[in-house]
Amino acid sequence: MNFDKVINRYNTNSAKWDEAAEEYGKDVLYLGVADMDFKSPRPIIEAIENVAKHGIFGYTIHNDKYFSSIQQWMSNRYDWDIEKDWIVFSPRIGIAISLIINSFTKEGDGIIVQSPGYAPLRESVVKNNRKLVTNELKLESGEYKMNLKELEEKMDPSIKMFILCSPHNPTGRVWQEEELKELSEFCIKHNLLVISDEVHSEIVFKGYKHIPFSKINDEIRERSIVCNSITKAFNVPGIMTSNIIIPNKKIREKFKDSLDRVGIHNPNIFSVPVLEEAYGKCEEWLEQLNLYLYDNLIFFSSYLEEHIPRMKLIKPEGTYLAWVDVRDLDLNEDEIEDLFINKAKVGIYIGSIFGESGKGFIRVNLATPRSNLKLALDRIKEVINNIE
Ligand SMILES: Cc1ncc(COP(=O)(O)O)c(C=O)c1O
Repeated sequence: MNFDKVINRYNTNSAKWDEAAEEYGKDVLYLGVADMDFKSPRPIIEAIENVAKHGIFGYTIHNDKYFSSIQQWMSNRYDWDIEKDWIVFSPRIGIAISLIINSFTKEGDGIIVQSPGYAPLRESVVKNNRKLVTNELKLESGEYKMNLKELEEKMDPSIKMFILCSPHNPTGRVWQEEELKELSEFCIKHNLLVISDEVHSEIVFKGYKHIPFSKINDEIRERSIVCNSITKAFNVPGIMTSNIIIPNKKIREKFKDSLDRVGIHNPNIFSVPVLEEAYGKCEEWLEQLNLYLYDNLIFFSSYLEEHIPRMKLIKPEGTYLAWVDVRDLDLNEDEIEDLFINKAKVGIYIGSIFGESGKGFIRVNLATPRSNLKLALDRIKEVINNIE
């Protein structure tokens, strides 16, 4: 595992590099879309090679090992014992969330999403004609906190669902037990169904611990849907596989019906062996990845402090995403985009993508070889230090 190796990803139909090249040109170093510039672990590559060598790519089913691999992983890493039946396959978490919104709420119902936040969560509420109830996180002494007091004031009987992102994209918060308990009490009190999007659960730095939301207590378990997948941790979003964990039988059956209605039956042929190998043989690789990402974070943070103090990192506790406060530059969103992309030639996500309260921030994807990060930071330093 050589995370320092720079691998050319152009001309691979990459939604990160090829799309950015079309939009901005190849001279922009792109740190936007959330996948990693690292090769997947060897056992995963071999699993895919074996399927390819067999040469018949027919319809695929899930076998027992697929489910037991997930059960074992959740038990070992999170001390979370789940039953096989609780696991429901969906190609993508995004698809699952949209179907859940459709099945469990009706048009005009309110759905709570925290802000700033991963745009597709907010968009799936709006695109399904539900009422978006935005709950702003509070930024206090450089740390984002939940803000249930503000939310309490907004509550009305039309609000039916809470969409949680845990760990949180883009702020990198790894919600701790007390916070999740408080949230669970809130959701029980207001009779809310909870979707907990836990796709970033495996990238968590030392000293922090991810807790699956359903594990908080038995009562919340019965009204929670946990969305997880191997895609972020092992860098395989291209195989389209996610697991939706639903302990409550009635909710689960209704969700399964909704999958059936839109014709989702069989998984991608690569996804079954890839998941088995990822959970069965790649935990050590994941530990090394977490260490490398942490070192990238330290490198990034020290560089900013030393050379570009007007950019202030919000210290993440997990995820490979850096949420950076650039309000000191005193620029509007267009000017921020112009500065980073056109002038510095570094592709980032501007904060307004994550909601109104993201304005004045940028998100940088740190899952790239350190030399790329250095190049990006050198370019940014050069441009920022030349403005007043
Ligand atoms: C919070 C969050 N949820 C979901 C996804 C995407 O998951 P999927 O590809 O399974 O829809 C991402 C990808 O960046 C994400 O950050």
